[in-house]
Amino acid sequence: MKNVVTSLFALVSAFLLTASNPEKNYYDELYRPQFHFTPEKNWHNDPNGLVYYDGEYHLFYQHNPKGNEWGYMHWGHAISTDLVHWEHLPIAIYPDENSEDKVRCTAFSGSAIVDENNLLGKQEGNVKTLVAFYTSQHCGQRIAYSTDKGRTWEKFEGNPIIPYDEIDDARDPKVVWHEPSQKYVMALYRKTTEGDNSKGVSFYTSENLTDWEHQSHVFGFYECPDLVPMQVTNRPEETKWVLFDGDGSYLIGNFDGTKFSPETAKMKSDFGKNYYATQTWSNIPEEDGRVIQIAWMRGGSFPEMPFNGQMTFPTELELTKFNFGYKVTRKPVSEIELLHDKDFEWKNEKLIPGINQNIVKKVKGDCLHIIGEFDLKSCNNFGFMLRHNKKETGTELLYDVKRGTLSLLGTTAPLLPVDNKITLEILVDRASIEVFANGGQTVISNCFTPEKGAEDLVLFTNGGEMIVEKLDIFRVKSAWSE
Ligand code: FRU
Repeated sequence: MKNVVTSLFALVSAFLLTASNPEKNYYDELYRPQFHFTPEKNWHNDPNGLVYYDGEYHLFYQHNPKGNEWGYMHWGHAISTDLVHWEHLPIAIYPDENSEDKVRCTAFSGSAIVDENNLLGKQEGNVKTLVAFYTSQHCGQRIAYSTDKGRTWEKFEGNPIIPYDEIDDARDPKVVWHEPSQKYVMALYRKTTEGDNSKGVSFYTSENLTDWEHQSHVFGFYECPDLVPMQVTNRPEETKWVLFDGDGSYLIGNFDGTKFSPETAKMKSDFGKNYYATQTWSNIPEEDGRVIQIAWMRGGSFPEMPFNGQMTFPTELELTKFNFGYKVTRKPVSEIELLHDKDFEWKNEKLIPGINQNIVKKVKGDCLHIIGEFDLKSCNNFGFMLRHNKKETGTELLYDVKRGTLSLLGTTAPLLPVDNKITLEILVDRASIEVFANGGQTVISNCFTPEKGAEDLVLFTNGGEMIVEKLDIFRVKSAWSE
């Protein structure tokens, strides 16, 4: 009897506690990313409509409000003033036919711009209209607009702006302003024939945002294109156009307003398994000037979570001319510092295998930002065991000197030392690890499901000695705790 009373009491207390504090577990589940964007619940994939306006970064995303699987696409919506803390807003774009169909006329991916010159004619007062271009699957390319800073959305009465074509499978319009020709340009994924080998990006131009004229096609691209003018960091007088593919890989070249002329071969932007549907924010103020990209971490798994999917941490892209040619580098936006908690620091630590203790032993936590510079000296390899403890080996990040490779979670990427040194910037969240090596020249973004409670860190070396020239490790606070 006593047992029954005790259990009853425990049950009632638990109920009262949850009832008085319904958000107790809010954004704190085992595999809930603490500083990577996830919807409160249900499925998400591609980032959409990235636009900055009046102090707010808008992040729309492919979203199924009905469940944890892909389908019934809507545009979910969140805003942020710092790219780190996100506020959820109501769904922005609904399917065009309010049917129970999983695919037909649902709101597939696209982009958004600020209608600076009120071309759509919808502006109210001084607030510029936000214009979203999206694919209504099997129902053409369409426009939705907002006259209240993205709080509510209307469908454009002249939709579709590019009608559906059964053959071309067109989708994912990305609209950018082309200053020299004073026209808007749309990069649209599509095929030019029935055959799969015509997959690529078609360019369209428009002076009024609603009438679009086909101009040219680049073959060898698949889904979610992005076209970005980028100033070369070490040659500020030079600007190149970068054409991104859905997996973040890219061509660098010239865009004359109608045609893209590549000047490089296609390069990989991320060697990991979970980097897809990249997009950059439009309308970033000139005084900021950054090119900021985010991607969907496709293929992640979130056992027993109320949501399914996460975004990468936003990254800043730079185009640099190295001695081997032009390359886009990528590193986390500096706003990550807003979440920095306790800092651990080391300088000029000589590590001799077999002698040194694990110098990072005092670091504990499930969310970390690690920034290090390592002089390889004569070591054979070095790395970190992440999310490790006495019982769990954790996840190994390994740099192999002889092979010149960086490995993580089944991904191996080429990485050569510069002056016999390697730099690593690592973001560890509850369901992902992103590694930016040598100033973001080699990046690996992978999802993982670490063991509960494994919160130790190990720095190891093998072979000869190595010098940790500089190492900063920050514990990262939750973006959702306030
Ligand atoms: C890429 C993609 C896009 C499409 C969307 C549908 O992941 O297939 O091409 O618009 O997802 O959700």
